[in-house]
Amino acid sequence: PRPILLTRHGESRYNVRGRIGGDSRLSDTGEVYAKKLANFVEKRLKNERAASIWTSTLQRTILTASSIVGFPKIQWRALDEINSGVCDGMTYEEIKRNMPEEYESRNKDKLRYRYPRGESYLDVIQRLEPVIIELERQRAPVVVISHQAVLRALYAYFADRPLHEIPHIEMPLHTIIEIQMGVTGVQEKRYKLMD
Ligand code: G3H
Repeated sequence: PRPILLTRHGESRYNVRGRIGGDSRLSDTGEVYAKKLANFVEKRLKNERAASIWTSTLQRTILTASSIVGFPKIQWRALDEINSGVCDGMTYEEIKRNMPEEYESRNKDKLRYRYPRGESYLDVIQRLEPVIIELERQRAPVVVISHQAVLRALYAYFADRPLHEIPHIEMPLHTIIEIQMGVTGVQEKRYKLMD
């Protein structure tokens, strides 16, 4: 059985300031994670010559992958974070204050809520379909470096979690979720690389 390794990008500068979306670079802590991840991947996938590293097209995932050497890297737009449309770059506090109706509707139905000129979780789930098909087809290990909302959806697919739970699944930073698909079902291991 070949593993799929899922991880969020290292902490970004926007994460530090509580801002959503954007295309910021990594914080110092995020850069430390990138190094630790490289170390982990190079050990874990030693001798796995056909393994590959998949990122989104956003800086924070590309930079998180940048210390990993020896494996091909592929950028997928479908792995980009949920598009928060007019709220891109805001904090949740600012959304609550400046657009209380939007904040409320998202709270009421986070799965279906679509940001004005942006996406909903359902939109994200739909655009992930080609990624899932390709992941299923791979025979070699894949490391997926992506974003919170996207990884919730991907994880839910492999862990067989129901649709309504997806927006609320815990997806911590600086943690690798390893998924193994075997005949007896899906096995999962977690590696927390930083506190
Ligand atoms: O920047 C977007 C966040 O990673 C998504 O988190 O869907 O819980 O607001 P959320």
